[in-house]
Amino acid sequence: MEERERHIIYDAIFTISEAKEKAPELKGVPTGVTGLDDLFYVVEWKGKKPHRKSLGGIPLGCVANLTGMPDTGKSLMAEQFTIKQASLGEPVCFVTVETPASYLSVGLEQRAKAMGVDFKEIEEKIIILDAASYARLREDMPTLLDTLAHIYRTYKVHRTVIDSVTGLYEAREMLARSIVRALYTFCKKWYQTALFISQKRSSHEELSAEAAGGYAVGHIVDCSMVLSKELILSARAAQLYKVEVGEIVRLFRIDGCRMCGHDTRIHLMDITELGLVKIGPPLVEVLKAKGENK
Ligand SMILES: Nc1ncnc2c1ncn2[C@@H]1O[C@H](COP(=O)(O)OP(=O)(O)OP(=O)(O)O)[C@@H](O)[C@H]1O
Ligand SMILES: [Mg+2]
Repeated sequence: MEERERHIIYDAIFTISEAKEKAPELKGVPTGVTGLDDLFYVVEWKGKKPHRKSLGGIPLGCVANLTGMPDTGKSLMAEQFTIKQASLGEPVCFVTVETPASYLSVGLEQRAKAMGVDFKEIEEKIIILDAASYARLREDMPTLLDTLAHIYRTYKVHRTVIDSVTGLYEAREMLARSIVRALYTFCKKWYQTALFISQKRSSHEELSAEAAGGYAVGHIVDCSMVLSKELILSARAAQLYKVEVGEIVRLFRIDGCRMCGHDTRIHLMDITELGLVKIGPPLVEVLKAKGENK
């Protein structure tokens, strides 16, 4: 029998010190979403006492999945992140898969206004890749990655938003994992801090890990955040949340982050009249306070 030729992939072997050289510094990337940035933290030691220090954003270099049912505020958060980063001088690549570029730019301008940012000042920092209008970008992964690499090189981009990755595996959901894996690896290689938006089907449990995009997308990315909304239809639910029947209660939760410590509680969330997402207090504290006021 002929002997198999040996293949050793030397590039894949690292000692810890070699691996560390390439690791991004652990620091926060502000999201532009009030109440969110302090939910990520690092542990610092003062003598023998550990204490939490806010990271002030999602971890640098993290690829985060933001998931939820329709109408829960995912795109608003993606836009807020984009405006915030651009206002800090960071070029951002926004891959729009659902909304054509011209419509997205109107949304971004509204978001900037609501956040008190002069849109004219940051327009050049936002590079839109219109995969909504160009089917080949949605259907052919190598073309999408080549185009992204071109953008990263040309505009020196280290922030990427994809709204949504679900739109890249429409009607071929069995490919979801491999598509998300390819994008994840690519973003890591290019040192992107990225937000992948994914849509959740109604059959997935509201705030669970499987909620994170389904199809085990949550296992691939570094961090998952889940948005949900509850329609208050019963007197009991209304009493629990202290709202009126017919109102909506919005909820938010970090489902996991492997790069740093994070708050694990369910938080109330709000979308303001200007269309800004705000993360509120933990649900447990709100319910406790309401119980005490009875
Ligand atoms: N400009 C705005 N002003 C006020 N409220 C807004 C504005 N834009 C959106 N909203 C509110 O925020 C909700 C969430 O919008 P968003 O587009 O972020 O949802 P989404 O989670 O991206 O949904 P989908 O999965 O359908 O894309 C809207 O249904 C609407 O109630
Ligand atoms: Mg959306």
